[in-house]
Amino acid sequence: MAEHFKWSDDYVFNIKEIDDQHRYFVSLLDRVYDYFLESAPRSTQEIILDELVNYALIHFETEEKYFAEFNYEGAEDHKEAHRELKAKIMAFQDESKTGTADLSDDLIDFLEDWLIDHLAKMDRKYVECFHNHGLK
Ligand SMILES: [Fe+2]
Ligand SMILES: [Fe+2]
Repeated sequence: MAEHFKWSDDYVFNIKEIDDQHRYFVSLLDRVYDYFLESAPRSTQEIILDELVNYALIHFETEEKYFAEFNYEGAEDHKEAHRELKAKIMAFQDESKTGTADLSDDLIDFLEDWLIDHLAKMDRKYVECFHNHGLK
């Protein structure tokens, strides 16, 4: 079960700062997966969700900083996607603090989509632009 969210070479962009953040991010997803599927105490679930939210925000800022610096043409769509991800993950965070609902399935589905659709597809689109500006 612990291997569910696994770092893959498919996620490597050869941009060190971004790769390091993505690698850490995938390890966080893996911990979320463990904690929720093993029904860890709610307090533990909240801590890992807080960490996920905070790290996501730092990571989005890093990407968006380079969008601005490199005048990335896909910036607006990408920033909108970040806003949506942020809203969803914060909704999970709220629910875990206030609700009694079992978030596991919805949360895991959401994180899986995030990994596949956002990291593996949308993030990949900026790689050429970042490389062209000498980022590696
Ligand atoms: Fe990313
Ligand atoms: Fe992104």
